[in-house]
Amino acid sequence: MITDIVIGLQHGDEGKGKVTHHLLKNGGYTHCVRFNGGCNAGHTIFHNGKKFVTHHIPAGVFFGVTSVIGNGCVVDPTKLQEEINYLESHGINVRDNLRIANNAHVITPFHKAEDRAEEKIGTTRTGNGPAYRDKYGRTGVRACDIPDLQPFLVDIYEELAGDTVVLMEGAQGFWLDPDWGDYPYVTSSHTGTAAAIQNGISPRSIRNVWGIIKAYETYVGARKFQPDDEIFDRIQKAGQEFGATTGRVRQCNWVNLKEVKQAIAMNGVNRLVVNKMDVLREVNSWGTTERKIHSERFFREHLNRELHNGLGVDKIYFSDNPENIYESSPHHEWSPDYSYAIST
Ligand code: IMP
Ligand code: MG
Repeated sequence: MITDIVIGLQHGDEGKGKVTHHLLKNGGYTHCVRFNGGCNAGHTIFHNGKKFVTHHIPAGVFFGVTSVIGNGCVVDPTKLQEEINYLESHGINVRDNLRIANNAHVITPFHKAEDRAEEKIGTTRTGNGPAYRDKYGRTGVRACDIPDLQPFLVDIYEELAGDTVVLMEGAQGFWLDPDWGDYPYVTSSHTGTAAAIQNGISPRSIRNVWGIIKAYETYVGARKFQPDDEIFDRIQKAGQEFGATTGRVRQCNWVNLKEVKQAIAMNGVNRLVVNKMDVLREVNSWGTTERKIHSERFFREHLNRELHNGLGVDKIYFSDNPENIYESSPHHEWSPDYSYAIST
């Protein structure tokens, strides 16, 4: 078993779906596994130039790779069926490639009704929190109890054991983790590398941990996140920052490198992807929560310098389009006037 893991290092919507799709496109994987969350997730994926939004189903189905909904997930059988129909109506073969861990928990209509009445933290209202509460309260329903799910069920340990190459596709982001996020403004499943490991893989099998960020940050939910400055409205518009699951406007801010560094360190990230550079280019503004930066070049250099800095990241990739990522030199070009280019 060889395992690569893709996780978000911010508050979700970093572009994990795109990176997962990109890695799968290059081949070599026998399995793609979703390891946390439920249909609260919305992964936007461009496949052969067409836009898809997935919630439960791992991106492996786009390439005929066996795709497993892991035991760390909660599954809504109705939404899952809708998603299978939606993908199959666009020619994606889901049925032959989808597997569900028999010990994954189920989101019931009661969970959804309860979550729809939620007003405190601004959940996605998909029944996620109540389903995890019942899992840990030992009153939950599991996939193995649901007749409609039977054709897809597997023992995830047996499915992944042996000569496999597994890509773990995370959902949400490290700063929505119930322990590490701004509680109670968090999701209900763990979101980091530790969560991936709980899904039938050996910690010793891990090859790469891909940490994904956007060049800025977004958050959806009830807490105030966006500072009062019109630049963030411009970023929201340029980035088309609407929730893929709920359609809510995403609040925006500059990238918080202190949080990104902690997430890199705590999750063993060795590959970092910085998405949506094109958005800051469009609004022609660059910065972090700590400082304004004058140009794209200095922004790249700043990120290269800060994030390679003894944290274990050996490659940084950038992206400025919905489909691809490209590698950036780890050794930023030192510019003598660098310090002048950054005003604190
Ligand atoms: P829940 O996961 O639906 O319970 O929502 C809890 C918090 O996590 C809310 O602030 C949601 O907006 C946020 N959240 C959950 N899933 C995602 C996601 O996939 N992307 C971004 N935010 C999410
Ligand atoms: Mg999303």
